[in-house]
Amino acid sequence: MKKKVTVVGAGHVGSSLAQMIVQEGSADAVLFDIAEGIPQGKALDLSEACPLWGSSSSIVGTNDYAGTAGSEVIVVTAGLPRKPGMSRDDLLFANAKVVSGVVENMAKGSPGAVIIIVTNPMDVMTQLSLKVSGFDSKKVVGMGGILDSARFRTFVAWEMGLSPRDVEALVLGGHGDLMVPMPRFTTVKGVSLTTLLGTERIDALVQRTRNGGAEVVSLLKTGSAYYAPAAATYQMVRSILFDEKRMLPCAAYLNGEYGVRGVYTGVPVLLGSGGVERIIELSLTEQEGREFAGSVDAVRQLSGKLGI
Ligand code: LAC
Repeated sequence: MKKKVTVVGAGHVGSSLAQMIVQEGSADAVLFDIAEGIPQGKALDLSEACPLWGSSSSIVGTNDYAGTAGSEVIVVTAGLPRKPGMSRDDLLFANAKVVSGVVENMAKGSPGAVIIIVTNPMDVMTQLSLKVSGFDSKKVVGMGGILDSARFRTFVAWEMGLSPRDVEALVLGGHGDLMVPMPRFTTVKGVSLTTLLGTERIDALVQRTRNGGAEVVSLLKTGSAYYAPAAATYQMVRSILFDEKRMLPCAAYLNGEYGVRGVYTGVPVLLGSGGVERIIELSLTEQEGREFAGSVDAVRQLSGKLGI
């Protein structure tokens, strides 16, 4: 039997992710949304694409939590997206209500699942989900750093006129305006960016990365990015489903690592069937450490507004 992945939220991110899962035949999928007909319609459409993709995966759409029981992975994308001029943090109260309701109900039916949170403001929504689910912190993880790193990789590749495949990048901290792109740990085929480009060019790429989500929002006007967020989430889903143990930057619960306790923030982790199986600690320079602490602080302050 294939493993079961539930995707909560049949909007752009959720349905793009569901497509990746079934197109590659990685798992059977359940697409859940409160809007009647939408998850069912999208799941039917995706089911009818499976013969064309040569996929043996099945996908069903539902408005009923019962249909999600027994999932190995639950991905929460439900909530409001950003509009132009809004920061991720502006979504706090509306999305907290959505996420806590969803996680509370999902956790009961899938007590062994790994929960991946995508809904913004992501780090705080992940912290909230840990509390509401009562799960071990290894089993609750947020998607942000892979997306931010993918943006950084793209901009470096464009700047240097080479393939983004050969660029690796690392972005730490919260998935917000104070995220910390790490040029020192960004490489082109193993060669550090800091030896390949001047400070001014690097600073411009770092700034564009920080503004990456808003740049897409300002173009789309009616919503936020979804292809890259879905692709980033899919890397996490795969690493968990197939126990790939990939090292990926994700929002993880820090319990003393990086000198931080009791808060979710983006750090490199090892993702496997057990969820966050290890947190990789890097030694940061003074400036990197200062920026990281500032980003963690912003997450803490936002969590404080929710009283968590
Ligand atoms: C972004 C939103 C989804 O970064 O957080 O595009």
